[in-house]
Amino acid sequence: MAQDKQELMDFILDHYENPRNAGTIEGPDKKLISDADICQNGGNPGCGDIVTICLKVDNGKIVDIKFEGEGCIVSQAGTSIITEKVLGKDLEDVLAMGPEMMTEILGEELTLSRPKCATLGLATVKLAITQLRRDEMKKANNIE
Ligand code: FES
Repeated sequence: MAQDKQELMDFILDHYENPRNAGTIEGPDKKLISDADICQNGGNPGCGDIVTICLKVDNGKIVDIKFEGEGCIVSQAGTSIITEKVLGKDLEDVLAMGPEMMTEILGEELTLSRPKCATLGLATVKLAITQLRRDEMKKANNIE
């Protein structure tokens, strides 16, 4: 975690300018068909900023994650940061992550003043997991 305000700002800007896990999950033949198990859109209606997060899941863990988005520095950097945090994690552990995770990373000042920006990425990852489970349940029960 960043030591002081300047380090924190540099850390956030670096993630905004060089987003980690940016892009899409390619199909096995590297063609346009995605190999993702789920792609989920998330957004803040108030400002129109959006992210799309795609997950590949194996044995209850996130084995690949990619995102694309447009929006403010905090939302896009926060999403980049969270993709690194959840990669390799159990779905249950990710679902248990709350906004305090973003407070720990981005600091109290920023997270409290811009909670929706700070948690957009985390909220969208959790929504993707919930949707994936719904889809799997529907498939198991032959519900369209
Ligand atoms: Fe839109 Fe930050 S101002 S997510």
